[in-house]
Amino acid sequence: MEKIRVTDLTKRYGRVLAVDSASFSIQENEFFSLLGPSGCGKSTVLRCVAGLEEPTAGTIYIGETLVNSTSEGVNVPTEQRPIGMVFQNYAVWPHMTVAENVAYPLKLKKMARAQIRKKLEVALHAVGLGRFADRYPSQLSGGEQQRVAVARALIKEPEILLLDEPLSNLDAKLREQMRFELKDLQKRMGIPILYVTHDQTEAIAMSDRVAVMKDGRILQIGNPLDVYENPANEFIADFIGLMNFLQCKVLSRQDHKVELELHSTGERLSISDAGVIEGEALLAVRPENLALDKELGVSCAVRARIFLGNMVEYKVSVGDELLRVQATTEQDYKEGEKLFLRVKKGTLFRRNSPESIA
Ligand SMILES: Nc1ncnc2c1ncn2[C@@H]1O[C@H](COP(=O)(O)OP(=O)(O)OP(=O)(O)O)[C@@H](O)[C@H]1O
Ligand SMILES: [Mg+2]
Repeated sequence: MEKIRVTDLTKRYGRVLAVDSASFSIQENEFFSLLGPSGCGKSTVLRCVAGLEEPTAGTIYIGETLVNSTSEGVNVPTEQRPIGMVFQNYAVWPHMTVAENVAYPLKLKKMARAQIRKKLEVALHAVGLGRFADRYPSQLSGGEQQRVAVARALIKEPEILLLDEPLSNLDAKLREQMRFELKDLQKRMGIPILYVTHDQTEAIAMSDRVAVMKDGRILQIGNPLDVYENPANEFIADFIGLMNFLQCKVLSRQDHKVELELHSTGERLSISDAGVIEGEALLAVRPENLALDKELGVSCAVRARIFLGNMVEYKVSVGDELLRVQATTEQDYKEGEKLFLRVKKGTLFRRNSPESIA
């Protein structure tokens, strides 16, 4: 069953079109992320789902309940929506203990004390804070404070959790650990999550599906692997993971084999590509899909070599274009070495398409 269905959601602030006809749905037990650069409208979508903003157009269902419909004049207030929310700044109250913070939503509902105590125990246990019930937030680490916020969102047993950049105030190591914890919690509790982030590694690591946004629009929805391997356009190709771009021209196409001419050196290479692009194009290649070779490929020169522990990253020049190549530590090339570059896998995009990054 769909836990959330958003259809043609549009939100204007005066002249600013913050969200432009966004549609998506979230399944039971799904971790779904809205991913995109700052200002693309992610938080606005989340706030509309939460009922903190009123959409300009569109409909929103939570479960089977219509919570927003501009055409039918429906706008269910936030406190009546079965949601739990966590923001970037945790918003835990410093003068309340962990237990008081987490139990607060139930106290507001005037629930019986014994029942609150039972639910509190479950919520604290779920986030691993059982031992910290009597501490104050100032006596907790950033990650622990964040878990207080998550427990407080969970205690009402919402239909869905809405999380807006909840990890961005944590240091890198803790952020990585919390990714696993959140994901694990979500699977254990069997609760769907609508997650907002501008951090593509975070979205890729945690999500079942990702919706990539730009300028208020959803450009692609898919599982992380699919979005990584088959980006719908040049913007997504550049935004998700590392990507090299080479200016080129399509010379010929036969079956799935495409013959290309590189602009930077005039050399030719062939790749397999099932697309339809002819003429001027942009070849997008991931660093791991380029290989340095002593004999075969396009001529190049090693400009820099960076040892990354488990692999080596080379910066190589092909004519006047600079590319990143990731390789195992087995072969070792030196700065200044003249070599050849093979393209193991690449994707062609139309040059100067409307989705161009520039
Ligand atoms: N209350 C408001 N009044 C006017 N414009 C707003 C308001 N809230 C958001 N906007 C604009 O709407 C657009 C989308 O904002 P939103 O907060 O949804 O972006 P975001 O994707 O969450 O960005 P970030 O990653 O920086 O949090 C931005 O251009 C923003 O300036
Ligand atoms: Mg935001």
